[in-house]
Amino acid sequence: MSNPSLLILAGDGIGPEVMAEVKKIIGWYGDKRGVHFDVSEDLVGGCAYDAHGTPLTDETMAKAQAADAVLLGAVGGPKYDKLDFSVKPERGLLRLRKEMDLFSNLRPAQCFDALADFSSLKRDIVAGLDIMIVRELTSGVYFGEPRGIFVEGNERVGINTQRYTESEIARVARSAFELARKRSNKVCSMEKANVMESGILWRDVVQEIHDKEYTDVELSHMYADAGAMQLCRWPKQFDVIVTDNLFGDLLSDMAAMLTGSLGMLPSASLGLPQANGRPKALYEPVHGSAPDIAGQGKANPIACILSFAMALRYSFDMGAEADRLEGAVNDVLASGARTADLMGPDGGTPISTSQMGDAVIAALNATL
Ligand code: IPM
Ligand code: MG
Repeated sequence: MSNPSLLILAGDGIGPEVMAEVKKIIGWYGDKRGVHFDVSEDLVGGCAYDAHGTPLTDETMAKAQAADAVLLGAVGGPKYDKLDFSVKPERGLLRLRKEMDLFSNLRPAQCFDALADFSSLKRDIVAGLDIMIVRELTSGVYFGEPRGIFVEGNERVGINTQRYTESEIARVARSAFELARKRSNKVCSMEKANVMESGILWRDVVQEIHDKEYTDVELSHMYADAGAMQLCRWPKQFDVIVTDNLFGDLLSDMAAMLTGSLGMLPSASLGLPQANGRPKALYEPVHGSAPDIAGQGKANPIACILSFAMALRYSFDMGAEADRLEGAVNDVLASGARTADLMGPDGGTPISTSQMGDAVIAALNATL
């Protein structure tokens, strides 16, 4: 049987730097664990625009559709700010999500013990935190029509449309309930049913799916603004949070900071299972391309490394190997190794991106 295939799209800014560390880890799994992947690489985002005049070519899109999993670094940068909206780097990522139908975006926020003092919140509020945000990723205001900037009378008007169908809500709700069953069995659904009809429908459909199929899971509902407040106040009250595309974008950045650094957070974007049983899948760090530090070896590769751990778990059914990799990251942090984003107020000497990757490899070796 041929090896499972991985398509690496490192992208822009710090994307290639953090992805270089993931490639070391993929190599380690081949050498030391006999876990082999057929890896290919391609362009997405600004670098694809530079090479081809588009942030994602049809050829790359086809490769992504065919791959068993896609690993993405980051897209975007100031160089591309002035580009026409249709060819901005972000459009490449959004096309991947939409055309691969990656409707369920898993964004875990886990506070590693060694980092509990790095959060902007007090230690007892974040220590031991382990929550999962499930963000709907292929619909809502990101994709709804009509959209655009139009002229009405003598002024311009910008329009985006929040739109959700029942089936779109139902499938992401199911994915949240399924996950909750493997965790602490609690789902909190967030919307703005007090001001948005799409929020009313969201709440109704999540409740219906629960009442028909998941009565064993505890379900609560919260308005998304109150949810943001509760995430800051006492985040450990949550297990799985399910929410729409835009609220999920905001809430997951916020949850990231609870864990100490945006440089720590991985994500998995999953579609429906295919004939081989694997879901269509793309794995990427929650952080962006960080143009301010790109090319300096300062970036924290952990979010990207943990995204690969999620690929092991969710695409390749290698939960034990994912545990091994996450454990290695935990050991490295416990040993005091820190990239620049994890420097406390008292300073210290940060290690570089590649030193962090090497430290994770050393910790992996220690598990053998
Ligand atoms: C994210 C990012 C993206 C989003 C951008 C880069 C299009 O912020 O993945 O959270 O808004 O979804
Ligand atoms: Mg975001």
